[in-house]
Amino acid sequence: MSTHELYTKTQVEPNWQIPASGSARFSWEYDEGRDRLLALYQKGKDKQWDGAKRIDWSLEVDPYDPLGTPDEAMTLYGTPHWAKMTDRDRGELRKHYTSWQFSQFLHGEQGAMVCAARIVESAPDMDAKFYSATQTMDEARHAEIYGRFLHEKIGMLYPINDNLQALLGDTLRDSRWDMPYLGMQVLIEGLALAAFGMIRDTTDKPLPKQILAYVMQDEARHVAFGRMALRDYYKQLTDAELREREEFVIEGCYLMRDRLRGVEVLENFGIARKEAEELSEQSEFLTLFRQLLFSRIVPCVKDIGLWGKRLQKAYVDMGVFEMGNSNLDLLMSQDEEIAEQLDRERFAQEEQERVAEVESAIADGA
Ligand SMILES: [Fe+2]
Ligand SMILES: [Fe+2]
Repeated sequence: MSTHELYTKTQVEPNWQIPASGSARFSWEYDEGRDRLLALYQKGKDKQWDGAKRIDWSLEVDPYDPLGTPDEAMTLYGTPHWAKMTDRDRGELRKHYTSWQFSQFLHGEQGAMVCAARIVESAPDMDAKFYSATQTMDEARHAEIYGRFLHEKIGMLYPINDNLQALLGDTLRDSRWDMPYLGMQVLIEGLALAAFGMIRDTTDKPLPKQILAYVMQDEARHVAFGRMALRDYYKQLTDAELREREEFVIEGCYLMRDRLRGVEVLENFGIARKEAEELSEQSEFLTLFRQLLFSRIVPCVKDIGLWGKRLQKAYVDMGVFEMGNSNLDLLMSQDEEIAEQLDRERFAQEEQERVAEVESAIADGA
């Protein structure tokens, strides 16, 4: 079914165009790649998987409770609005929130695909082009999977959030070749990864859990790539150039923290924007969620060498400064391990069922 029939808004532009700026670059050096980057490229090739096969799409999803979200985690919980709602209304609200959240994931994945393709085009070195080509494919698979989940299991999509779109636009309009890395690989992917992780670790529903665990396995490589490429490059930049990048990060972080919280959903339930913003601001759960959203960005930014005074101050202000000390490598290896563990469990279960089937067939025969 056409996505346009499933959007919550009746009018969504069919396309969005951003004029390209900056150079396409060729390199004639094919044999001098950095070992660590080439190893990541190899891993990118080895670890491709097919969402149509690896994910069990026969699992049913209740669109009115797709993630098993507890009442207390709903923004409206404890407000007069919540008290007035019937069970049916609350189910409808859960459906909208999941649709909103996963739609932002979906649009973000498309953004990641376009940015990865841009990096193929603009990065000066062949090793980065090779690697980014695998990432482009990864992001296409992710967009396919989130799109399928929304179309088949939820039946409703939200348009891209204005502020996410603005950040994506800023990232793509910039002619400096490192900006798609910084805007997309570090900021947007960092946020997305934290959000994926929180849902992966709290949902008790098997289908979304599979989707998130497997997508995160790929994202661990993407973050590693952004870190490697930027750490090398930022060592060569002047202080003034570094400060410019830090400003971009600060602005992007505030924007995502304050403007990406599903106010659109509440508006669709007849709550005026101002009140919707206040309710989101007051929600304890959302406040915690918004802080945790930075768990992947802060250590990454610090690691690539953007750790000037102003940036540190901004993170203190947001209450996320301490996150700079978390171990990104450990988080990433856990992401990979969780996906593999999930495969093992599912495989063991299938194996058991198969053995039981064979045994009963033998018993029937006897
Ligand atoms: Fe992705
Ligand atoms: Fe990614």
